[in-house]
Amino acid sequence: MANDKPFLPWSETPEPTSLKIDTSVPHPARVYDYWLGGKDNFEADRKVAEATHAASPGVVQGAKDNRAFLGRAVRFLAEQGIRQFLDIGTGIPTQGNTHEVAQGVTPESKIVYVDNDPIVMVHARALLRGTPEGKTTYVEADLRDPESILTHPDVLTTLDFDEPIAIVIVGTLMFIKDDEDPFSIVKQYTDAVTAGSYLAISHVTADFEPEAVGASAKAYNTGPTFFTPRTGAEIARFFDGFELVEPGMVAVFDWHPDDDPFRDTRLAGAYGAVGRKL
Ligand SMILES: C[S@@+](CC[C@H](N)C(=O)[O-])C[C@H]1O[C@@H](n2cnc3c(N)ncnc32)[C@H](O)[C@@H]1O
Repeated sequence: MANDKPFLPWSETPEPTSLKIDTSVPHPARVYDYWLGGKDNFEADRKVAEATHAASPGVVQGAKDNRAFLGRAVRFLAEQGIRQFLDIGTGIPTQGNTHEVAQGVTPESKIVYVDNDPIVMVHARALLRGTPEGKTTYVEADLRDPESILTHPDVLTTLDFDEPIAIVIVGTLMFIKDDEDPFSIVKQYTDAVTAGSYLAISHVTADFEPEAVGASAKAYNTGPTFFTPRTGAEIARFFDGFELVEPGMVAVFDWHPDDDPFRDTRLAGAYGAVGRKL
């Protein structure tokens, strides 16, 4: 693709360690990509995506609502003066990627993307370019291994942990099972950042529509793909030591909506919230 803009190189990172992309196994990033209308998905992903959609037709709108929450939350954070973002569970690049939103507000913003799907990395390297003033880096790593992320050389050369950082884990924590202790995992990230840092989370819940979310979990949880819906009270635990900004934890589409607020006609399958570290 011709590109005459003076982009910085994507990253100093060496070539990815894992380029083995098994397209016969469904993966959350590619199922989500299908729901969002993307092309970076394969038969196994489409099978799960379509079965889940058939069981619970609200999932497609739910994916769009989640993606829109990400954009509004990042814009809000940038407008609060946050210049550093650690976005874990990046997803396949689509519209309104974190660095585009953040650097659209402040070109100097620095973003580290982390995902454990090698296909995300391939596309991210090709498509996600930052502003010349800022920095955008991609790290292929697993959210469940905070130490390897928090000590990764690219993370440490991109982000200054003495200054506030926004930890963005949107649409991803439900893929961490209870027995993997998602709360202590998130705490390791939140412990690593200074007061005045932020945490932005969205998370699937069955609080609003138990039957629909139960049906979608049944169809989606095939083994390779598996999500755990959590209650609002459980999701609030991720924000231990943080003060939620207004309006608190709400259905993703009700968090700082750009358009008609408080619509109740759509499936609310996820909570969204942003908190500031005390
Ligand atoms: C539903 S997508 C959300 C993408 C983006 N954050 C958004 O909200 O639009 C979930 C992403 O989390 C990633 N993911 C799932 N489990 C992960 C893990 N253990 N470590 C890192 N990334 C993970 C998937 O590969 C996928 O890209």
